[in-house]
Amino acid sequence: MTAGIQPLSENGGDVSAPRHVAIIMDGNGRWAAKRRLPRSAGHRRGAEAVREAISGALKAGVEYLTLYAFSSENWNRPQEEVTDLMGLLKLYLSREVKSLSKQGIRLKVIGRRKRLSEDINEMIERAETQTRDNKRMTLVIALSYGGRDEILDAVRSIAADVADGRMSIDDIDEARFQNSLATHDLPDPDLIIRTSGEQRLSNFLLWQAAYSEFLFLDLLWPDFTEETFASAMEEYQGRHRRFGGRP
Ligand code: IPE
Ligand code: IPE
Ligand code: MG
Repeated sequence: MTAGIQPLSENGGDVSAPRHVAIIMDGNGRWAAKRRLPRSAGHRRGAEAVREAISGALKAGVEYLTLYAFSSENWNRPQEEVTDLMGLLKLYLSREVKSLSKQGIRLKVIGRRKRLSEDINEMIERAETQTRDNKRMTLVIALSYGGRDEILDAVRSIAADVADGRMSIDDIDEARFQNSLATHDLPDPDLIIRTSGEQRLSNFLLWQAAYSEFLFLDLLWPDFTEETFASAMEEYQGRHRRFGGRP
């Protein structure tokens, strides 16, 4: 180390445990390809890794866990893969909601629901109602979700309020804007994890990620475990968050 230059993390990080962790669950296809299996097998194993992430988050005392399950652009995948993913989602909702509830987890889904089938929409509504009073953790599933869609929806609702005289242009500020987003009842993510080695947001939580910490992991999503979550917590707690204002 050159004299005079101090390492950034001399005394470890200065942050407490994250309240909100968001995960871009990527790499199911590559996990399957490595084993010469169909992509659907990777997605099936990916659904199992969701359980690992949830138990890791519960153990870490995280209040909000957001999982990116299907993006607005994922509709452009081959029809067969979309059908597989929707089938897995149905299976997940029919099998896991009871156990989520038992663990004190509230479920919330964000994304363009209109594009999802009627039966999936009914399952989501039922699951949200069934778990709405649970307090231990909120599990947010981003489904048919795109950050740009979400921002445009907020713009439309604010523009309608202005056009109808319920709000003036001068009233539009960050708080009002945040309040018009699907995540209006969540704090911004403290940490965003992406698996698979890719280092991009892929249209995830664009507004909310303004000051999030990022952790890009080389492992593929089906290999994600509770221990992976625990080491991510350690890594996060070694970070220094400044929010632009702290020297
Ligand atoms: C993530 O895995 C699951 C979804 C995006 C639905 P991928 O299917 O993107 O897997 P890779 O990136 O092709 O390996
Ligand atoms: C992002 O992964 C979306 C989800 C994990 C649900 P993608 O695999 O769709 O993203 P790109 O295409 O690599 O950017
Ligand atoms: Mg991918």
